[in-house]
Amino acid sequence: MARKIRVGMIGYGQMGRIHAYAYRTIPVFYDPIPFEVELTAVADVVDGVAERAVAQAGFRRGTKDWREVVAAPDVDVIDICTPNSEHLPVLEAAIVAGKDIYCEKPLCTGLADARRILALAQKAGIRHQIVSEYRFLPAVRKAKELIEQGFVGDLFHFRGVYLHSGYIDPKRPISWRLRREATGGGALVDLGPHIIDVMRHLVGDASAVLGTCSTFIPERPLAERPSEMARVDVEDAASVLLRFPGGGSGTLEVSRCATGAEDELRFEVQGSSGALSFNLMDPNWLYAYDATLPEGSRGFQRLATVQRYPAPAVAPAPKFSIGWVRSHVAAQFAFLDAIARGSVPSPSFVDAVWVHAYQDAIYRSAVAPAWTAVPTVDRE
Ligand SMILES: NC(=O)c1ccc[n+]([C@@H]2O[C@H](COP(=O)([O-])OP(=O)(O)OC[C@H]3O[C@@H](n4cnc5c(N)ncnc54)[C@H](O)[C@@H]3O)[C@@H](O)[C@H]2O)c1
Repeated sequence: MARKIRVGMIGYGQMGRIHAYAYRTIPVFYDPIPFEVELTAVADVVDGVAERAVAQAGFRRGTKDWREVVAAPDVDVIDICTPNSEHLPVLEAAIVAGKDIYCEKPLCTGLADARRILALAQKAGIRHQIVSEYRFLPAVRKAKELIEQGFVGDLFHFRGVYLHSGYIDPKRPISWRLRREATGGGALVDLGPHIIDVMRHLVGDASAVLGTCSTFIPERPLAERPSEMARVDVEDAASVLLRFPGGGSGTLEVSRCATGAEDELRFEVQGSSGALSFNLMDPNWLYAYDATLPEGSRGFQRLATVQRYPAPAVAPAPKFSIGWVRSHVAAQFAFLDAIARGSVPSPSFVDAVWVHAYQDAIYRSAVAPAWTAVPTVDRE
């Protein structure tokens, strides 16, 4: 009989809604599956939000107190969708309670806390996955497959950007995303985890970084009193140079002030025998260049990755165009499938701590400024 996995969600904002939708979608998109998913409980601190989650997404019960959900004996998995600084107390309590955890990025607001959480999770033997949904896009899966087959050859360059434009309006009020104590940083902490994770997943770890951070709009109005201004203490953008152990070089750029951008995660991988290129705004295709073809036959080929997921994915059919939410469905399926089968979920908190290690090194390199080694993280 399929194992029932009972989910307790903490925070029902933007991402809570997406995760709830994805859980409900899994049983119709994947068939057969070795588990049954139940949306058991939800907590949100704001009055009436948990009740809305019950009514809209079908949770069995709701509360304002996340501790009730973490302590509940009928909850197996804690899904953390709160603002960044609210992850830590939930993580600590959920690990003590022996729950498996699916946590939104970034894991914590700094490297030291992230390392401590990883150690606690490993000691407790719980299963854990960090949300890095872009690994689960068919185009990124295809890029990984080609790189593993040697298509790119020796790495010359990895070039990754993640660009948003939501903060170009100086009248946009301050929010938790613009306060370091609530986030641990700005664009590098908000968008950085995604492009850093894609880079690590595809080409492995860089050995050293050199970054620079910029805050274009240093103060913003308070939402509740727009005539009063509050200081922004996080960066709007970061640009980073990378060195790879094999001699390759690269760049990362993240910005929330990239005028004209919507949700533009792009990467290019260039090597001795081929190149790959992807843009999240054009997510149905991976562009591949085979440098081993004879002169005259070379050129970027557009590979249709569309919605090609391996079994047991059954819907939507592979030819239908893909959207952002589908990558969350795939990431959550992978997590629940690993729990049901007793395997190790990936990307795990180990990968999340690596992301913190990059952020830590990039921030330090920007202050110095100097090439800075990326602190290593044990893979066990
Ligand atoms: N993976 C992605 O693509 C992606 C995209 C956006 C945000 N995120 C991450 O998801 C997390 C949440 O971001 P969001 O955009 O959903 O934020 P949000 O502000 O839309 O929602 C957060 C929700 O958490 C609730 N909340 C706050 N503190 C709480 C507490 N102590 N207990 C219970 N509920 C609490 C808030 O009331 C709100 O409803 C962040 O860590 C963010 O970095 C990930």
